Amino acid sequence: MITMNDVIREGHPTLRLTAEALSFPLDSKTAKLAEDLLEFLKNSQDPETAEEYDLRPGVGIAAPQVDRSIRLIAVHVPSSDEESEEPEFSSVLVNPKILSHSVQQTCLSDGEGCLSVDREVPGIVPRHKRITVEYYDLEGNKQKKRLRDFPAIVVQHEIDHLNGVMFYDRIDEDNPLALPDGIDVLGAAPSEE
Ligand code: NI
Repeated sequence: MITMNDVIREGHPTLRLTAEALSFPLDSKTAKLAEDLLEFLKNSQDPETAEEYDLRPGVGIAAPQVDRSIRLIAVHVPSSDEESEEPEFSSVLVNPKILSHSVQQTCLSDGEGCLSVDREVPGIVPRHKRITVEYYDLEGNKQKKRLRDFPAIVVQHEIDHLNGVMFYDRIDEDNPLALPDGIDVLGAAPSEE
């Protein structure tokens, strides 16, 4: 299983690379990695497993964060409805691409976090409020998904990792807490990406 020891941290050069696109069928090593990344997120959100293995809670992870520079991300966003067992969005996305997005921006009120960043970086990270993302599932079927608000933010954060971009690159250096005009502010993030 993947643990925090497998997660590379800021300063590691792989986090700044543009990751390579994958072709199908995926080799067995890559298919296994995809499953392990999604499993890591589920484990990290399970309080007992997280404590046992010292996992930081995460809702998204990108393959470059475990030092594989390939265009593969996993997201596991729990439902915003606490009664619901069904996650809001849980998937592995291969070669994900944002096809279109809203002009409207959004951000998390408390800023973003990252499993590869062991410090708090305060600041507003502007994101598209709505996106349409195209990707391939593990079988190589093309999928298209419309996302808004928190799941959209998570997917944008992870796709950034495929392009060597860290969340803090998007924070306004001179005025980190300033809200861009018209931005929609979302409440506290349930966990990190
Ligand atoms: Ni991250």
